[in-house]
Amino acid sequence: MEANAAKRKEPRKSLRIKVISMGNAEVGKSCIIKRYCEKRFVPKYLATIGIDYGVTKVQIRDREIKVNIFDMAGHPFFYEVRNEFYKDTQGVILVYDVGQKDSFDALDGWLAEMKQELGPHGNMENVVFVVCANKIDCTKHRSVDESEGRLWAESRGFLYFETSAQTGEGINEMFQTFYSAIIDLCDNGGKRPPSSVAVGFTKEQADAIRRIRNSKDSWDMLGVKPGATRDEVNKAYRKLAVLLHPDKCVAPGSEDAFKAVVNARTALLKNIK
Ligand code: GTP
Ligand code: MG
Repeated sequence: MEANAAKRKEPRKSLRIKVISMGNAEVGKSCIIKRYCEKRFVPKYLATIGIDYGVTKVQIRDREIKVNIFDMAGHPFFYEVRNEFYKDTQGVILVYDVGQKDSFDALDGWLAEMKQELGPHGNMENVVFVVCANKIDCTKHRSVDESEGRLWAESRGFLYFETSAQTGEGINEMFQTFYSAIIDLCDNGGKRPPSSVAVGFTKEQADAIRRIRNSKDSWDMLGVKPGATRDEVNKAYRKLAVLLHPDKCVAPGSEDAFKAVVNARTALLKNIK
């Protein structure tokens, strides 16, 4: 009994983890890390050359974790330097600048680069990803809204945070949640626990919202050919309405997508005899 009680009081073993940052040049990867580790912000752009490496100790819940952070250079020029650092990673901080649509569109490319470097036996399923929609202090220039970013992240089972390395908004919260999820992963034998990927909406819903957002006209939005009949329009509409109805769909951006679909149907039916 006594031995058991003593055992229970023993602090849990400290964890050692590896974390990397990914995303286009100048999106703020180094500044996010600096804001968290050094509590400061550097307005001048100092491009990371290849890789910056740092070790930090953090206390999350009752655990002490030693974090090895590999802060990667986003510039394509440094591909040869960073490609060997993708392996044996438990967590990825994936950053884009909310004022630079290109940096958001590049996120898929970053995942592809990591996948390629991990090779056929690498497993990205068991890595915790956190997406940082950074520079939210620059409200005037925002070109990727929250629902679009959140949908991209959450439909992949990734965490999503709105951050500003300049003001510090979202940074502590992001790191705490990120590290906490990595601890859960380690405690689960290195596998992402099912709870962290349950997002409450389906891939079909996420894909439909993305397609609606990117559609070029009302026909395209409903997924029918120009010149389709009333029946075809109504059928396509009903399918999307069931999929995206606000009572049924909690995916980010579903309400706007649902409204857009209603408007597209109304507009098309006006002109079809
Ligand atoms: P590479 O190392 O080249 O891949 O870039 P990086 O992603 O590490 O970018 P870095 O952190 O160096 O920041 C790039 C520029 O954006 C710098 O001038 C920063 O001061 C600025 N910056 C970073 N985060 C923010 C932010 O949240 N808000 C604003 N306004 N500027 C930011
Ligand atoms: Mg950098």
